[in-house]
Amino acid sequence: MALLKILHYPDERLRVRARPVERVDDEIRVLAEDMLETMYAAPGIGLAAPQVDVAKRVIVVDVSEDKSDPRVFVNPEILAHEGQIKTEEGCLSVPAIYEKVTRYERIRVRALDLRGEPFELEAEDLLAVCIQHEIDHLDGKLFVDYLSELKRKRIRKKLEKTRRHTL
Ligand code: NI
Repeated sequence: MALLKILHYPDERLRVRARPVERVDDEIRVLAEDMLETMYAAPGIGLAAPQVDVAKRVIVVDVSEDKSDPRVFVNPEILAHEGQIKTEEGCLSVPAIYEKVTRYERIRVRALDLRGEPFELEAEDLLAVCIQHEIDHLDGKLFVDYLSELKRKRIRKKLEKTRRHTL
């Protein structure tokens, strides 16, 4: 297991469209384990492979209070959705910024598990929001893209300032 380095906005590598995983092999299983470890250490409730500079369609999620519900989705796809929910979101790639974003309230998602077997899951509320947020990362999309241009500029400035002061 290893801790991976998380890329920060506005790093252009976060804008890459990740490629589908063709075969779920040991490399993918190790990646998923490392991503879970990195997510828990951060700490966060979700992480997508492009955030650790791997352009593959893999996401990990755990919305439990006590790290008891790790979930891995390989090549996730949203099959159906219902309702809307507005939640305050943050992102490990956009540190210390929290903003309200509107998402689907319930989703049906299909993916492969770490044995390469397809499965479907119905998710709602925070789990549904988190999965949508992570799938966005696979398409090079960040939650700040849902905000106004003005807000996004302000966030960019703030993060660039923070970075300059990190020695
Ligand atoms: Ni994120």
